[in-house]
Formats: sequence, structure tokens, C-alpha cells
Amino acid sequence: MYITRKVVTEALKQVIFFAKQDNIVNLNMVDDIEIKGNEVKVNIVFPKLDDPAVGIIYNSVVKTLKQELGEDVKVDVAPIAEADKGRGPLAGVKNVIAVIAGKGGVGKSTVAANLAVSLLKAGKSVGVLDADIMGPSVPMMFGVEGQQPGVIEREGKPIMIPIENYGIKILSLGFFVQPDQALMWRGSMINKAFNQLMEDSDWGTLDYLVIDMPPGTGDIQLTLGQSYNVRGTILVTTPQKVATADVRRAAMMYRQESLTIPLLGIVENMAYFVPEDMPDKKYFIFGKGATDELAQELDIPVLGRVPIVEKVVESGDNGAPITLDDNSSVSEAFREIAKNVEQRLEIL
Ligand SMILES: Nc1ncnc2c1ncn2[C@@H]1O[C@H](COP(=O)(O)OP(=O)(O)O)[C@@H](O)[C@H]1O
Ligand SMILES: [Mg+2]
Repeated sequence: MYITRKVVTEALKQVIFFAKQDNIVNLNMVDDIEIKGNEVKVNIVFPKLDDPAVGIIYNSVVKTLKQELGEDVKVDVAPIAEADKGRGPLAGVKNVIAVIAGKGGVGKSTVAANLAVSLLKAGKSVGVLDADIMGPSVPMMFGVEGQQPGVIEREGKPIMIPIENYGIKILSLGFFVQPDQALMWRGSMINKAFNQLMEDSDWGTLDYLVIDMPPGTGDIQLTLGQSYNVRGTILVTTPQKVATADVRRAAMMYRQESLTIPLLGIVENMAYFVPEDMPDKKYFIFGKGATDELAQELDIPVLGRVPIVEKVVESGDNGAPITLDDNSSVSEAFREIAKNVEQRLEIL
């Protein structure tokens, strides 16, 4: 059985908090569910930890999950007191989403930035974390290049304040590393900087934190999967067979046993070209079919297809993602993608 949050949540509805005469899901006591392969971790929030109900519910959660998911499932229940809720790193962030690709240049950053804007326009609070150390382009795309994030002190620790533009919170590895120095950074240094961006930063409360991941498979990918609760990845590819072959390898890494981050689906970027003077014509200049084949093979949906439009380049270079303007075919494509991402998260 493939364990999903939905399956776990449904099972937890069988666990009743008798004092309040309802199940722990309805009572909002289930704070966090993390699934890694055959291991399920659940945080349960109690008004007070010295309540005798804590032990009873603890046992009931373990028993119910094993009963519903299988005896061999490892269940890890952490009771936490209401007063301590929301104190861990990224506690205010509901959904961490990683945008991944097999190689550079397919439009990963473009998709991350425009998905962020489209989610914002759909009424969500959004942050973008640029983790692509070799090609950090998010600051430029949001017009905050050259700015430095502020730092405050909290409980004796320096905390970074994301830079904000268009209502989106932004942090980038590029704020700390000059591109020509990136090659000299050791993996451990990159990981440390990445962890700081994730944990020692004031993301506040967000519906979505969209991470622009480095292309391919590497250290940051492992750190992300092993240390954080990521709701899903979005694969970006162009229609060529070589591009889909590359992203397939990256996807398999996220899917492997030790990480098991759900794949939300594929965004096919540069899917086709529409000449401005012939808006009814679509030219599939990079071919057709390879993306659908990959989607079928991985058993994930195609979340959307983004056309090749000159203005995408311009708007990226000018620091204003094209989706800030509602009236373009690209904005329409991203509205659809944002909607599909939200729907996919509901069932996973
Ligand atoms: N749909 C598109 N139409 C036209 N140009 C695009 C499109 N998507 C991306 N680009 C351009 O392609 C280049 C690479 O995109 P980028 O998002 O930086 O790729 P990556 O992050 O994967 O390296 C950029 O100049 C970008 O403006
Ligand atoms: Mg990029």
C-alpha cells in the first residue's frame, strides 16, 4: 500500500478524544504528518501534556495506524503541548514544494517564479527559496538583485528576514555566494547555507514555500529530503526526449526509499510556439509526446504546458514575472498549473 497523508488522516479520524467527544482530526489536534517510505511520523497537539488522555490517545494512534496501514509500518507519535506548537523550524509554513529539473536551462526558475505569483494571485501567501547555487536567478526575476536580506537576533541567534517584492518573500543562496565563487564551495558549506535559509529565516506563516532546486541530483537534494517535510516536487522539462530522460533520473532520486517525496506532476515548458500574428497556430518545435510518455511511466499527471513566448525572457530579465499580468497565454497556463498543484496536494 502506498501511504499518503490522505490515508493517514482518514485513519486518524477513528481516534476519539472522549473529553471533547470528537475525533482528533476534527479537533485540529493533528499538527503534522510526515511520511518517509514505511515510516509515519505524527505530531499530536494537546492542551496540556500532563493530561491522562495523552497516553490513551498515543496508544490509540499507534494501534489504529498499524491496523489500517499494516503491522510492519513504523509509527512515530510525538505529543506536543499547545504552547510549544509552531516553534520548530518552518512551523508556520504549510506546504514546502520543490521545483526540480534534470538539467539547467529548461525553465525551472521561470516555473518556480511564475507558479509563486499564480498561487499568490489565487489568494495564498507565498515564499520562494532559491537553492540553485550555480545559477541563482530568482533575485533577478523578482527585481531584488543586489539587495541583502536584513538580520535580526532571536533567542541569541541571527535570523534572516526574507526580502519582499510583489507580496512574495524571497531568499536566495545567490545573496551569499558570487556565481564565480560557487564552484569553490564545498558540499558541506552549501548545505549549511541551505539549512540557514530554511531554518534560521523568518518565513512567518506561509501557505507555500516554493524551492527552486539545483538541477539534477546532489547534496542539497538529499538534505532537503532527509531533513525537511516536503509536500511534493514539480518536475520541469521541455518536450525533447533528452530533457525528459534527464528529469526522469532526478525524479527517481526523489522517489527513492530514503527520501520519498511525492511527485506532484510535470510542467512541460516551452511546449509549443504561437506566432503573434497567427494566434490560432501552434508549432511544436521541440517535438511532442515525450512528456506524456514520462508522465505515464511515472504515473503522475502533466500539471500544465507553458508556451514559448518572447515576453517570458523579457519579463524575467526585467524583474517582473510575466504572470503579474493576467492577460497572457502564459498566465493562463500558470493559473491552470497552480490549480492542479492545489488539487494534487489534496489527494496526496
Ligand atoms: N516558456 C518560455 N518561453 C520563452 N522563454 C522561456 C520560457 N521559459 C524559460 N524561458 C527562458 O529560458 C531561459 C532559461 O530559463 P530559466 O527559468 O532560467 O531555466 P533554469 O532555471 O531551468 O535554468 C531564460 O532566459 C528564460 O527567460
Ligand atoms: Mg534557474
